[in-house]
Amino acid sequence: MAKQRIRRGVTRRTALASSAASLALAPLSITSFAKSAHERAEGTDSDSIDSLAALAAQKGLAFGASFAVHELDRPYGEQYADVYRRDVQLITSELCLKIPILRPDAHVLDFAPADRFFSFASENGLGVHGHTLIWDDYLPDWIKQLSGVEVDHLLNAHILTVLERYNGKAETWDVVNEPIAPWDKNPGNLRQGPFYAHLGEDYIGKAFHLAREFDPKAKLLLNEAQTESADENGATFRKSLLDLIKRQLDKGVPIDGIGLQCHLQSERPYDFPRFAAFVREIIDLGLDVQITELDVNDSAYPGSTTERDTRVANLYAQFLKEVLALPEVSALVLWQLSDRTSWMADPGLKNGLRKDKKPSRPLPYDRAFEKKPAWYAIADALRAMPARRPVRKT
Ligand code: XIL
Repeated sequence: MAKQRIRRGVTRRTALASSAASLALAPLSITSFAKSAHERAEGTDSDSIDSLAALAAQKGLAFGASFAVHELDRPYGEQYADVYRRDVQLITSELCLKIPILRPDAHVLDFAPADRFFSFASENGLGVHGHTLIWDDYLPDWIKQLSGVEVDHLLNAHILTVLERYNGKAETWDVVNEPIAPWDKNPGNLRQGPFYAHLGEDYIGKAFHLAREFDPKAKLLLNEAQTESADENGATFRKSLLDLIKRQLDKGVPIDGIGLQCHLQSERPYDFPRFAAFVREIIDLGLDVQITELDVNDSAYPGSTTERDTRVANLYAQFLKEVLALPEVSALVLWQLSDRTSWMADPGLKNGLRKDKKPSRPLPYDRAFEKKPAWYAIADALRAMPARRPVRKT
C-alpha cells in the first residue's frame, strides 16, 4: 500500500514507522549501475560506442537524465524506457519525490509514483539522484497555512520519512533546492517561502544535518539554478550562492557538493570560461560539483529546424567543452532526454513557448526519439574530456 493517511500532529517516529512498514523495495548496490555502463564501454573503441553513459563511464563521469514515471504509461512509453536503458546510468526524480506529489494534502502520503521510480531504477541497474527534499517553492497550498512550529515539524518529519523509506537507494540527494531568489529581497538573496519565513536561513542547515543523520552514506547536494549566464542575473546568483556556501561550511553544515542546474536559455549571453572559473571556486572549497538539469531552451532561436538544432548542439558543445575540462565535475545530468517529454513541451508551464508556435527542441532526442545533432555534440564532448578525478578535501 503506497498511499497512506497520516494524522495531523503525528510524531516523527510514528510517521517513520508507518512509512517503513510498507517498504518493499529491493536494495540497490551503489556500484552496480556504474559497472554496467563500464561494461558496455570496456575494451571498445569510443568511436563505436552508442551510449552516452558508456562514453561518460570510460572517463569516470556519471551520466544521467531526469525521468518521470508517468511517461511510461504513454503510447511512446517503451521508446521512452529504451532511451534511458541505452543512454544513462542514473536517473533523477523529476516529479515523484517533490512535496506536492508526496504530500498533496496534510493527511496524505502518496509514495506510489516514487516507489515505481525506484523500481524502474533497480530493475534496469540505474543509479538514482533524489530530487528534492526541501524546496521553498513548488509547494502545495496547505503548507503555506502552517504555523512556525508546524513547518519545523514538517521539515523534520518529511526528511525522516523519505530517507527512511528510500534509505541507501539514492547515491545523491538534492537536500535543498533553489535557496536563492534575489527578487524576494531577503538578506543573502534567499528565497522567501514557508521554510525560510518561519525558520530563517537555518532551515538549510537543519535539512542537511537531518539528511546526514538518516542516510549517512548518501552524497548531499545543495542544488541551484541561474548561475551560468554572463549577465547581472548570473553574477548575482553566483555571488549569492558562493556566499551562502561559505556561511554554511563555516557553520559545519554537512554539504558534500553543489548541483548546478544549467537550464541554458537561447536569449541569454554566456561566457562559459567565466562560468567554469566559478565552478572552480566551488571545487576549491572542497566540494563536489555536478551539473544536474542541463537542457537548452531554444525559444529565441529563429529559423528552420535544422538551424535551431545546430544552434542548440553548438551551445551544448561550448558549454560542455569548458565545464567538462574540469576533471572534478563528477556528474552530468540532462533534464529529460527527448523533446517529447521535456518540461518545455508542457503547455501549462509556458517556458518553452516560441513566437512561431513550433514545439521546443531542447534535448538530444526529438519527439520521435530519434537522435539530434545535440546527441552527437554531447557524445563528442564526452570523448574529448579528461578522466575524472576526485575533489581534494580542504
Ligand atoms: C520542473 C519539472 O520539470 C516540471 O515538470 C514541474 O512542473 C516543475 O518542476 N528547477 C528544478 C526542477 O529544480 O525541479 C524543475 O522541474 C525545473 C527547474
